[in-house]
Amino acid sequence: MRAFGILLLVSFLIGCGQKPVSYRDKIQPILNNRCVSCHGLDKPAARIVLTSYENLMSSKATKFKKPIVIAGNPSESWLYLRSGTDQPHFRMPPDTVSITPLSKDEIELLGKWIRQGAKNN
Ligand code: HEC
Repeated sequence: MRAFGILLLVSFLIGCGQKPVSYRDKIQPILNNRCVSCHGLDKPAARIVLTSYENLMSSKATKFKKPIVIAGNPSESWLYLRSGTDQPHFRMPPDTVSITPLSKDEIELLGKWIRQGAKNN
């Protein structure tokens, strides 16, 4: 009986860990609040447009000419690397503006969403 209880608890915890992060509910709102003032449709900084899933996924890093989101791989995704770094001169949003950097939780959400396949969900 006790083993069964533990089994239930474990499968519950695993289930929680895999709960999909919704792009619509969690990711786009972060981008809207913290990024689109510079990465909007009108003269976007570095030609990165973060106003919608389609624009995000077709935006490329200028130097490397590769998409800023590599599904399944946060450590190769510039979206994640630039917002998640603790180096102020490299971090997005830039330290020249008064927009607050992403919180630890928000960075984690980005990473999780990318790891889960960067879906339009
Ligand atoms: C105040 C304006 C501003 C805000 C706000 C801002 N950015 Fe940027 N972003 C820039 C500028 C300017 C560049 C080009 C210079 C550079 O790479 O540092 C840039 C570059 C980038 C690049 C790299 C492009 C490349 O070619 O390597 C990414 C990725 C990026 N931003 C993502 C974001 C994300 C994600 C957010 C929100 C969390 C954000 N930015 C918020 C101005 C901004």
